[in-house]
Amino acid sequence: ELSFIHRYVPTMDPGRPPLLLLHGTGGNEDDLLPLGQTISPGSALLSPRGKVLENGMPRFFRRLAEGVFDEADVKARAHELADFIAEARKAYGLNAPIAVGFSNGANIAAAMLLPRPEALAGAVLLRAMVPLKDAPQSDLTGKPVLMISGAMDPIIPADNATQLAEMLKKAGATVDHQILRGGHGLTQADVQLAAGWLATEA
Ligand code: MLT
Repeated sequence: ELSFIHRYVPTMDPGRPPLLLLHGTGGNEDDLLPLGQTISPGSALLSPRGKVLENGMPRFFRRLAEGVFDEADVKARAHELADFIAEARKAYGLNAPIAVGFSNGANIAAAMLLPRPEALAGAVLLRAMVPLKDAPQSDLTGKPVLMISGAMDPIIPADNATQLAEMLKKAGATVDHQILRGGHGLTQADVQLAAGWLATEA
């Protein structure tokens, strides 16, 4: 038994990297399977369900209010998720995955990348924000990260997303930060950018 409820879809194209799919608040392990299949056809898909419940809605870490995180919980959950990835890699025979996270899922991916860079081969962070004010020092040299933000996102101030991009760059990651004209929801532009980036950078 692995330590998270999850879905796993085996690869149909071993040339494609495995994806770790991380849903947003109120989502589950099924939500991002179609997105994963669309942006990287044939990739193995590993899709856990967040263990924290907020009024019945699954998430990957606790928050005190919208945009105000329980940082101790963020850190503990980031390690718990990195441990799950290691278990799942052994069970399914996978290379380190590229995280594809939306909103709360993107935030836990960013929180995990800093203390546990070995857990991920890279990340696509859709509508991410700074997950930890005192982020651990780490070496992300050469890690490819695509961040896609919405200029009119009511949940994530534009300068907060930019601050996360700077934080990741400072740690050595190769960050491509794209800012779309939209809001918090994903659009066709996100799908196209992510697919193009996964085909060329990842
Ligand atoms: C978070 O809690 O991670 C962010 O506020 C995004 C979200 O609403 O999930």
